[in-house]
Amino acid sequence: MEEVTLKGLTFVPYIKRDEIAKQVQRVADEIRRDCQSEEPLFLCVLNGAFMFAADLYRAIDMPKSVITFIRFKSYDGMQSTGKISTVMGLNEDIEGREVIIIEDIVDTGLTAQRLREELLTRNPASVKMATLLYKPASLTVGVPPEYVCFEIPSRFILGYGLDLDGQARGLADVYVLKPEVTEE
Ligand code: IMP
Repeated sequence: MEEVTLKGLTFVPYIKRDEIAKQVQRVADEIRRDCQSEEPLFLCVLNGAFMFAADLYRAIDMPKSVITFIRFKSYDGMQSTGKISTVMGLNEDIEGREVIIIEDIVDTGLTAQRLREELLTRNPASVKMATLLYKPASLTVGVPPEYVCFEIPSRFILGYGLDLDGQARGLADVYVLKPEVTEE
């Protein structure tokens, strides 16, 4: 694993693929154990969660469950815009169903809260969230995610689905922005 430079910024390896795989399996086992029904609905939040969702859903291994995909956008470059726009909606009927949202990262919590609110108006049996990464110090609204692979400090992350303006999603490991060295 080496440093990656994008848009003049350097990112260094942070979480290796083996460690990701281990935590994904742990969370998958927790979800399977906690599910009340054999037919929960998984909601993958595109684009960032696509890789995590594929690995997690395979590891959950519940043949009667369903996965579907919705799309939000709240980031512009490395800054949260604070605004969230629905790009692709949810068409499934979720009334009475156990719903588990799959997110790449919970930062301010805005996306998560907005999604939970929208889902709760449709009378599901329950709504929970599984996330690859969670920045607890950044959470400003809503509740912490129920399932977390890694709690991390509030630093900008890339790889394994997470991007910088669309780039770097295909990296198999997770990278973090290299801290700038200040001259004395
Ligand atoms: P929130 O609404 O502030 O919790 O942000 C959630 C969304 O912002 C995530 O689904 C990501 O798309 C994006 N995001 C937050 N932090 C990062 C990061 O460190 N790297 C890449 N994208 C991020």
